Amino acid sequence: MRITNLTVDNFRNHTHSTLQLTAGINVLVGPNAQGKTNLLEAVYLSCVGRGWRTVRDSEMLQFGKERALVQVNAMKRFGNVEIAIQLGQGLKKSISINRVPIAKVAELMGQINCIFFSPDELKLVKEAPADRRRFMNIDLSQIDKSYFYALARYNKILQQRNASLKNNCDLRELDVWDLQLIQQGKILIQKRQAFIQKLTPYVVKKHQALTGGQEIITMTYETCADFERELLAAREKDLRLRTTTVGPHRDDLAILINNQDVRIFGSQGQQRTVALSIKLAELDLFADITGEKPILLLDDVFSELDSSRQARLLTAIADTQVVITATDAPAVGKIFVVKNGTVQPQ
Ligand SMILES: Nc1ncnc2c1ncn2[C@@H]1O[C@H](COP(=O)(O)OP(=O)(O)OP(=O)(O)O)[C@@H](O)[C@H]1O
Ligand SMILES: [Mg+2]
Repeated sequence: MRITNLTVDNFRNHTHSTLQLTAGINVLVGPNAQGKTNLLEAVYLSCVGRGWRTVRDSEMLQFGKERALVQVNAMKRFGNVEIAIQLGQGLKKSISINRVPIAKVAELMGQINCIFFSPDELKLVKEAPADRRRFMNIDLSQIDKSYFYALARYNKILQQRNASLKNNCDLRELDVWDLQLIQQGKILIQKRQAFIQKLTPYVVKKHQALTGGQEIITMTYETCADFERELLAAREKDLRLRTTTVGPHRDDLAILINNQDVRIFGSQGQQRTVALSIKLAELDLFADITGEKPILLLDDVFSELDSSRQARLLTAIADTQVVITATDAPAVGKIFVVKNGTVQPQ
């Protein structure tokens, strides 16, 4: 799939910007704080229904404005799609696909798929388990709608169970929540396990290509052996701590290089290469599952790589539509100059 047009109105610092994107590499160039990443965020919003840097839709509205609009047109194997998202001060966002409003964000999932990569993505390997769960949640939701539904239900039940624990509920009330939590939780665990298992060989391949095959990488999803039994066993603790202490909302992803945990022992460079390998691997995995290559959004990645790595990266993404932000224009792709919330093709 590829995006042909992106138009934003009152979106962050862009009052009105419109871009005709090319099939290959698109580069958004400009000094700091001009609105390059904001445009990537607009694309991201039209793919997954939420902002890249915020969970609060109102933060994406231009300061002092009442309404914002993001519109994306894309070409897919079986026809074109137009996504329009309207944000309003104090309103729920409204989304339409080919001019037909949809009731649930879930319906947006899978329409246009994107993979976002920024230096921040290092968190994926380095920081707290929550960042690795977020990665699994967002990326898995794009290729599997039933995962997105199960996740929404799980989070809701978890919230209710935690509220009950805070109110010193009786055990019968807990029984009711546990039954539902186990049901949805098992779906999440099973789907994440399958996802990581499928993704791993792709990561190994990309990682070998980026490093020249020096290191052996493995990934395992870390979860409870038996969610149902462990949830029951943790009841006393949960009641004491007034929160749910076991379940997929506490799980993690282990990433090992030559049997050593990258999360703990990896160098900055190794962690960066692993994070990039995972993202590039996803491009191929998504393509194999959905039959279409997702769009790759690369924020500030070039400045972090030396020229030989830049070249290797460009080879690795040769047949993908890419939108890159950079402060200096590389000698490739279609260039858009971004200046103070406006865009000019060069
Ligand atoms: N809701 C908003 N309304 C208006 N302006 C906003 C809003 N949110 C962010 N901005 C402005 O957008 C600008 C940042 O844009 P962006 O992050 O896209 O910059 P950038 O071009 O990617 O810069 P860098 O090269 O530093 O990453 C900031 O000046 C910020 O004040
Ligand atoms: Mg930026």
